[in-house]
Amino acid sequence: MDHLVSPSLLAADFGRLDKEIAMVNRSAADWLHLDIMDGVFVPNISFGFPVLKYVNLLSEKPLDIHLMIVDPDRYIERFRDSGASILTVHYEACPHLNRTVNEIRRLGMKAGVSLNPHTPLSVLEWVFPYIDMVLIMTVNPGYGGQEFIGNSFARIRALRKMINESGNDVMIQVDGGVDTTNAKKLLDSGVDVLVAGTSVFESDDPEGTIRKLKELG
Ligand code: DX5
Ligand code: ZN
Repeated sequence: MDHLVSPSLLAADFGRLDKEIAMVNRSAADWLHLDIMDGVFVPNISFGFPVLKYVNLLSEKPLDIHLMIVDPDRYIERFRDSGASILTVHYEACPHLNRTVNEIRRLGMKAGVSLNPHTPLSVLEWVFPYIDMVLIMTVNPGYGGQEFIGNSFARIRALRKMINESGNDVMIQVDGGVDTTNAKKLLDSGVDVLVAGTSVFESDDPEGTIRKLKELG
């Protein structure tokens, strides 16, 4: 499949959120990536339901919601009601991952599972049939604008091989430090969905940067 681009709103100017979302609507972006941080699972707190409600009203792109929160099971239905099309939870936050991803799908969303940079890929071995996407963190989650972790390319190639051998149709998303200089190599390593925050919203031409990310590959 052609790859997808999901700009991460975390790097946007929240003082002019309507204009930032209008830019994403006009752009070649496929999804809009939204980072929910609780200050417990990750050291930072981002935004919650009141902001999401507004984003959902304005966005014409499917909402790709990345939960960096403990005990996400408590909120699955609320995120669905807030407009999530894709809901991604962290493996490290889910003691009953199979139940969690089944519930996400039962409520009509695509289910994603994210791995922190140090988490072995093998933990996903028995999960592939029940999910739509794996989100490989290429920085330690919690902040935008961090440096891409170099050994992520090998990690993605290994994951692509595991997924292909499993025979399941599972997308790979990357998140953290993605820009127009490393995106092509990521796609060649087996990535399907590029998330990019800082490199899009802090560029001189955010819409043009999204187009560049979309035209690679
Ligand atoms: C980090 C978030 C990312 C973040 C990426 O914890 O999950 O989505 O917005 O930002 P950049 O592209 O700036 O690394
Ligand atoms: Zn994210």
